[in-house]
This record gives sequence, C-alpha cells and structure tokens, in this order.
Amino acid sequence: MQADQLRKKYLEFFKQKDHKIIPSASLVPENDPTVLFTTAGMHPLVPYLLGQSHPMGTRLASVQKCVRTTDIDEVGDTTHLTFFEMLGNWSLGDYWKEEAIKWSYEFLTSDEWLGFDPESLYVTVFEGDQDAPRDEESAEAWKKYGIPEERIFYMPKKDNWWGPAGATGPCGPDTEMFIENDEIPLCGPNCRPGCNCGHFVEVWNDVFMQYNKKADGTYELLERKNIDTGMGLERTAAMLQGVATVYETDLFVPIIVKIREMADREEFDETDRRLVRIIADHIRSATFIMADDRKIAPSNVERGYIVRRLLRNAIHSADRLGIGQGFIGELAEIVIDVYKDTYDELERNKKFILKHAEREDKKFRKTLRKALRKLNRILKNTGTITGEDAFLLFTSFGLPPEMTREIARENGIKIDMDEFHRQFEEHREKSRSATKDKFKGGLADHSEVITKLHTATHLLQAALRKVLGPKVKQSGSNITKERTRFDFTFPRKLTEEELKEVEDLVNWAIDQDMRVEREIMPYDEAIEKGALAFFKERYGDKVSVYKVDDFSMELCGGPHVEHTGEISGFKIKKQENIGAGLVRIRGVLVSDED
Ligand code: ALA
Repeated sequence: MQADQLRKKYLEFFKQKDHKIIPSASLVPENDPTVLFTTAGMHPLVPYLLGQSHPMGTRLASVQKCVRTTDIDEVGDTTHLTFFEMLGNWSLGDYWKEEAIKWSYEFLTSDEWLGFDPESLYVTVFEGDQDAPRDEESAEAWKKYGIPEERIFYMPKKDNWWGPAGATGPCGPDTEMFIENDEIPLCGPNCRPGCNCGHFVEVWNDVFMQYNKKADGTYELLERKNIDTGMGLERTAAMLQGVATVYETDLFVPIIVKIREMADREEFDETDRRLVRIIADHIRSATFIMADDRKIAPSNVERGYIVRRLLRNAIHSADRLGIGQGFIGELAEIVIDVYKDTYDELERNKKFILKHAEREDKKFRKTLRKALRKLNRILKNTGTITGEDAFLLFTSFGLPPEMTREIARENGIKIDMDEFHRQFEEHREKSRSATKDKFKGGLADHSEVITKLHTATHLLQAALRKVLGPKVKQSGSNITKERTRFDFTFPRKLTEEELKEVEDLVNWAIDQDMRVEREIMPYDEAIEKGALAFFKERYGDKVSVYKVDDFSMELCGGPHVEHTGEISGFKIKKQENIGAGLVRIRGVLVSDED
C-alpha cells in the first residue's frame, strides 16, 4: 500500500465513524510562542483540547505535517525523521477509551483497511503512579477486541504518558501500538515493545487526555476528557510495504535513488548509508519548512536557524560522499514532486525554496573547508574536542554542533555538549536577552498579556489596511509575553507619519472599548462577509471568526479579550524591511501608567 493510499484510507475510515476532516495546519504554530514548529497533530487543536468548542464538532481527524528537531541526532537510523506526517483522530469530550481502542484495532487489522496480522500487533498501557491509576480500562478494551494478555505490556510514565512539547498543557496516559518488523530480528530474549532495536515499530498512539499539567508541575483533571491519537505515516507505510526502514518506502525511494546516483561510490558501507539517510531526511524537512507561506529562509535565529542547520548538515554529508554543489536544488525538486499533490504550498513556493537552498549551499561550501581544517588541527594538537571548541567552531565558522559531534564520534571522542550549550546560552543571553523567555511557559499559555496581544495584533492588521490599503496581507505573526511581531506584505518601510497613524488608530479602537465577538460560520460565508484569512490551507469547512465591531474581522482560533478597552494601550516599537516584499512590525502593550 502506497503512502498516499494510507492517508486516504485513514481519513475515509474516520469519516465513516462520523469524524470531520480538518486540513493540515501550517508547520509554524499559530498562537504558540513556546515551540518553533508543529510537533504533533494535536498541536493546532490545543485550545479545543482545553475546552473551547471546535467549529467542526467533537470528532475530528487529520493528516498533519510535523517537525521535531529533538530527534535530529538520531536521524540516520531506521525510524527517526525530523519531518513526518501524523495521522490523527480526536474526540473532544465525545467517545472514550473503548471506542478509540476498538477503532484502532479495526483499522489496523481489518482486511478492508490496513490488514495487519493481529498476531503481529503488540500494545503497551500505563502502569500507574502517584499521579494517575493503572490503566486497566485500556487493557480490558484491548483484551475484549482481540489482543491476548501476553501481548499487552504495562509501562511507566516515561513511556506511556503523553503531553505536548511545552512543559504544560493537556496530557494523560496513553496506549501505544507496535507492529513486529520481520526484517529486523529480536535483539535478545528481553526484547519487547519499547526496545529501540527496531524489531517492534511503534505505529500509533492513543492518548487519553484527562489532565492539564500546570506551570507548578501539578496535574488537574480536565472538566472534559478528550482523546488525541497519532499514527506515524512513514513508519506505518514501511510496515505495510514490508520494508525494514522508512527510507525504503515509496515516499523516500526516489530521493534515496538520486542521492546514491550522485554519490561518488561503488559500494555503500554503513557510514555511507547513514549519510545518505541524513541527506534525504534533512533536505525533505528543510524543503517543507521553506515551503511555508510565511517564507522562512536559512538564518541565524529561530526557525531560520533550524533550516540552516538541516541544510548545512546535509551539505557536509554530501561533501563526504563526494557530492558537489548544486545537489540541494535537484533533491528539493524531487521532494516537491513526491508531495505536490498533497501539499500545494510546495509548488507555490518552489522558487523561494530553490533560491535559498542553493544560496546556502554556495555560502557554506566556502567555510566548510576552513572549518574542517580548523577542527582537524584542534584534534591533532589536543587529541580531543571540547564543548568550547564546538562552540568556537559554531560561532566563527557556522559549523552546526551536531556536525562537530558527528566528526568527534567517528574519532571516538565524546564532546561535552552541556558545555557547548552553556556557552551558547551565555552568548545568546548577551546578544539577544529576550529570546530565552520565549521558551518558558507552556502551550496553554493563555495568560492575560498574550490574550491582549492577540487582540492588539488583529487591531494592528486592521489599522495597517486602513492606512496603507488592502495590499497589506499578513504573512506571519508571533506573540510572546513581551511583544507581538507581525509580518505583512508591503513593498517598502512605512514613513514615520504612517507608523504614527497606524498606532493612533489602534489606540483609538482600544479607547472605544469595542466588543470582541466570536462567531462560527462556514468558511465561504466568512470570506463573503469580508473576514481576513491568509493561510487558506489550515481552515476547515466551518471556521471561527473574531469580530471587533466594524473595525476588524479575522479567522482565528483565539484567545482574545472581550472588550478592546482591556488592552489599555499599544505602541509600535520597531519596523524592519525583511526582504521578499515583507515588512515586520513589533509592538508592545502599554499600560495607563506608562
Ligand atoms: N500526540 C500524540 C503523539 O504525538 C498522539 O504521540
């Protein structure tokens, strides 16, 4: 079964179980300053998992693009990827464990759907601890639908509990499903689900969200219980296609074949195979991130920095395989080809992707040689590489830390990465004191300031359009406790007068103490009524619209204040022309006393 068929079957199955299909949200999370990328299918649904009603109802399903950079060092093995697609279904206060498990079992094993041999299916459930009881309910449901006791394993919180990437937010016990991979033998008599030798492949996770983890580390029961599930598309496709690794699935084969063709090798040893996989994974992720309509190019900060690291690691791996400059564009085109029917942003932003990928290739090849010479000199003179060396190589040559670590590893040296990170943080602290705060707090950070800034951002966008005309279109926004940052299309910087006029208009709307109202309506109706919606790909049939009197109307998930007067005041702090026809404005809240 091809990956595309798997996507379709999954959505069809849940449609038959009365779920509404929601489109993949952007890889850049809206309204969440705590993480750089969407890391799971549930991520765009956090407000709804916390209790807000979803415009499409209480049963939802999707295929969501995800990026997880925490696993970047594992890439090159058989299952870890930095970009992946997650198939997910949700119950928002609707069905509970028994139905979720029944459907998971049916979808995995029924011949009409995936048709896995029930004997190859193993599950794990939460064993219980001081925060929550042993999950006998799930175990009973599994037994009822066909999994015998000897294929059910009880595991502790570190394995069978799921919360989102931020420290706080909705969470709960989960039950994970594993398929035996015939291509990889058991690693020993104690090998069991959860072992990372590759024999047991985790394909699906049903999370029972009963709790909200608070900033102080305690758990409170959610008023409404939800279910969040996630099935890894690539892993499941590998199991369906009877191949040992995700890199041998139809999603990867064209990319891998091309890299092997480009490489200057007759035979590929284990290291070469790793390098080929790293290139494939990293170019795929970088392509998807750059394909976002928010136009993320390689840079030294935040998301751009991730793109840069992915590309640089790929360039280094390519260099080692004797693959010369210009390869990224060719590979990115294959990635675009494989996915263009599923994600149309790839084709839409192709030019941007190719331009920046090639630019990075050219730029980095120049410093790569120098950096490697320096690294080898350090190795020869001191016999080791320290965390401080890794940091210096990073700051003076732009050598990503994982590259230094990789080279060290091949020389049998373990770098003290804590030292690297300590230096890195110190450096960051000095040069950009605000950055760190961004990562504090949790996904569910609907604190007062953030809520006010959300509404202020709507007012800002409306004011910009009133002053500069409808050419102004949002291309991205990012809100932290300190400020809102708003990117929009406009060919030049604003004049002082224009800035002042925009700021005054926002403050006027605040002084009027306008009512902020939320309405649910069909997408087409919202557009007809003039609601602003700039990221078409992420909306379903029914949408949530926030209206501020006649002043502003935008599609948005919230949260927002109820009256604009709650905001007190707004100030534009800075504007920049960030290129590609985009202007960036940063604004802050000011209180009456300021
Ligand atoms: N959100 C859950 C996961 O990522 C399903 O595993």
